[in-house]
Amino acid sequence: MLRKLSIMLAALLLISGSYAQTIKSPDGRLSLSFSLSSEGEPTYALSFGSKPVILPSKMGLEIKNKPPFTNGCAIKQIDSAIFNETWIPVWGEVNQINNHYRELAITLQQPAVANRWFRIVFRLFNDGAGFRYEFPEQPGLQYITVTNERTCFQLTGDHMTFWIPGDYESQEYTYNHTRLSDVDAEIGKKVYEIGTRTIPGSDYVQSPLMMKTDDGLYINIFEATLVNYPAMHLHIDKKTFCLESQLVPDPIGNMAYLQASCNTPWRTILLSDKATDILASKTILNLNEPCKIADPSWIKPMKFVGIWWDMHVGTKSWNYADINNVKLDETDWNKLTPNGRHGATTEYTKKYIDFAAANGIDGVLVEGWNVGWEDWAGNYKENVFDFVTPYPDFDVAEIQRYAAAKGVKMIMHHETSSAVTNYERWMDTAFRFMKHYGYNAVKSGYVGRIIPRGENHDGQWMVNHYLRAVKKAAKYKIMVDAHEPVRPTGLHRTWPNLLACEAARGNEFNAWSRGNPPEHETILPFTRLLGGPMDYTPGIFRMKMSTYDPQKKDMMVHTTLTKQLALYLTMYSPLQMAADLIQNYEARPDAFQFIRDVAVDWDNSWYLEAEPGDYITVARKAKGKDEWFVGAITDENGRMATASLNFLPEKTKYVATLYTDAPDADWKTNPESYTISKCLVDKNTVLKIKLAPGGGAAISIRPATETDKKLKRYKP
Ligand code: NOJ
Ligand code: CA
Repeated sequence: MLRKLSIMLAALLLISGSYAQTIKSPDGRLSLSFSLSSEGEPTYALSFGSKPVILPSKMGLEIKNKPPFTNGCAIKQIDSAIFNETWIPVWGEVNQINNHYRELAITLQQPAVANRWFRIVFRLFNDGAGFRYEFPEQPGLQYITVTNERTCFQLTGDHMTFWIPGDYESQEYTYNHTRLSDVDAEIGKKVYEIGTRTIPGSDYVQSPLMMKTDDGLYINIFEATLVNYPAMHLHIDKKTFCLESQLVPDPIGNMAYLQASCNTPWRTILLSDKATDILASKTILNLNEPCKIADPSWIKPMKFVGIWWDMHVGTKSWNYADINNVKLDETDWNKLTPNGRHGATTEYTKKYIDFAAANGIDGVLVEGWNVGWEDWAGNYKENVFDFVTPYPDFDVAEIQRYAAAKGVKMIMHHETSSAVTNYERWMDTAFRFMKHYGYNAVKSGYVGRIIPRGENHDGQWMVNHYLRAVKKAAKYKIMVDAHEPVRPTGLHRTWPNLLACEAARGNEFNAWSRGNPPEHETILPFTRLLGGPMDYTPGIFRMKMSTYDPQKKDMMVHTTLTKQLALYLTMYSPLQMAADLIQNYEARPDAFQFIRDVAVDWDNSWYLEAEPGDYITVARKAKGKDEWFVGAITDENGRMATASLNFLPEKTKYVATLYTDAPDADWKTNPESYTISKCLVDKNTVLKIKLAPGGGAAISIRPATETDKKLKRYKP
C-alpha cells in the first residue's frame, strides 16, 4: 500500500529572508518545524504534542576550501509528501513493518556561492524524525571534502542520560547514568580492559544516546543508513544542553570524502512518553533502503555453539604453540610444538558437532583454527592471518564431512586483528575457501589498531570496509557476524546477510574483566540494539570464573542463570549463541531445554514493560509456529515482572513452562539457583513473576495436549 502525494509549494520561486514551515506526524502527535533565519541559516525544531523536545537548532556542513552549507541560504523549492507502505523483512522481530511518514524536502540555494544548491530532507514518523543532507550534482559541486558537520540538537534541559564515552574505536563500555552536565568521558581513558581507544575529550558521548526528561519523555538521538561517511558522535555543551554532531576524522583530519550526487546518513530522534515505544520502533530500519539481495532465501537465522568460551575463561587457547614470534610466510607451522591447550582441534570440534546435532542447534563456531594466533594482538602487524591455512591439528575436510553427515552448519572465524589491508587482500580467497569447505556464515573480528595506520574503527574508510565485506559476502551467499565494527544503523534491511554485530560490550567481558553490571542488558536494547541485532553470546550457566581459575575470585557473570535464558528474548538477534561449555549444559539439561526450544525468528513481538537501566519484559511469537516466549530481566534490584498473555489467540488452553529465579537466587550470592514449573494459561492470564536481584525469567508457551490438561491453572 503506497500513497505518495507531492505538493510543490514554491517551485522556482526564490524566498530569501526568514521563512518557516511546520509538518505533523501521520498521527498528529509530533510536529517538526523548519525555518530559515534572517541570515539564511537553516534550523529545525521538534515537539511532542505541546511539549518542545528539540528547540530551534542549527544545521549544515563545513567543507574544505569552499564556503559552508550553514548560512546564506534562500528557499528554492519545497516538496511535501506522505508515504505509507508495509514491507516484509527477511527476518526480524515482526513479520511485517509499516513505514508511514510525512516528508518535507527543502531545496536551499546559496546566492552568494554561485547559486549552489542542496537539500535537507525531513521524515516525520509517529515515533520520531529523521533528516539528512543531499547534494545533487551541479556545476562547481562535484567533490566534497567534509571538514565538520554542524548538526545541532538543542535540548530543553539537563536531561538524565545513559552514555558511554565518545571513542572513535570502541563501544565496549559499561553505561553511565547521569545528567548531561555530569558527563565526564575522560573516565574512558582508564577503561584498560578495552585495548584500543581514541577518546576525543571529556564532553563527547556516543550515539545512540538515550535520554529521559524530568517530565517523562524518552528521547533517543542516533543515525540511520551509515554509508560512505564516518560515525556520528555527539559533543555536549554543558551550559546550553546543545548536542552537536562530531564526526570521526581520518588520519589527516578530514571527516568524509563525497562525490555528488550524494547524501549524508539520516540523523534520527526517537521520541515517546512510553519507553516500550522506543524498543519497538522501526524508524531506523524504515530509513534504510529495501533489500538489495534479489533472492535472500539462503539467509537463515540460527542458534550456534562453539569453541569460544573456553578461550575466554582460559581453559583452552586460540594459539597452537606457546611462542610469541611467528611470521605468516616463513614459519613452518607443522614443526611447532603444540601447547596441549589448543581449542580448535578436529576431535574437540566433533564433540561440539555431536552436541549441536543432539540438541537441535544449527551451527558450530570454531575460533583459533587458522595459523597466526601466536602473536596476533597488539603488535600493529600487517600480515597476521591468511584465513586459509588451518593449524596441523584442525582437519578442515574431515570436519566438513562430519558436520554435513550430522546436518550441522560450520561457522567460520576471521579475526582480522584490524590488519584490514591484509583482510581486503585475502577476502575473496577466504570466502572461496569457506564455500569449498561448506561454510556459509562468518564471524569476523577487528581487535587492535586499524591498518591502514591512523584510521579509526568508526571512520569513513572503515565504514566502507565493513559494508564492502558484507556485500562481498552476499555475492558468495555468506552471512556475517562482525565483532568490533562500527555500531550498526539498520543496514541489515538492505543487506540481511548482515545477521548480527557485536559493537558493544558483550557477555565475554564477564569472563575476564570487572564485567558487565546487572543493569547493562536493560540499557543495550535502548542504545546499541536500535541499530541492529547484537551477538551478545548469552546462555552462561556457570557464573563464577573461579570455577576455571582460582585466581579469578572476583570475576563472574553479573546475572542469575534464568536471566541468561531471558536474554534470548530481550536481546533480539537472529543469531544467538549458546555460549557456555558442553559440560555446563549437560549438568543442567532441564534449564538447557529452554535454549533448545527458543526461536530466533519471529512473527510478532510485544514489549510489555520497560524502563532503561531498570527492566524489560518482552513476549514474542515464533515465526510460522504456535509457540510464544516471554523474557523478563531486571537490574541489580529484584522486582515483580508482569506479563499479560492477551496476545494469545482465543479459546485455546496453553501450557507454559516457567524458568524462574529460585526464592534464594541473587546474582551476587546465589546466581545459579532456579526453578522450573509448568502450568496452564490462556489469553486472560496475567503472569506475575518474581525476579531476583540481577535476575530474570524465561517462559515458553505452546498449545496444551490432552496429557497437559491435567496440569494446574496458573496462579500468581
Ligand atoms: C573479540 C571478539 O569479541 C571475541 O568474540 C573473539 O573471541 C575475540 N575477539 C578473538 O577473535
Ligand atoms: Ca569484542
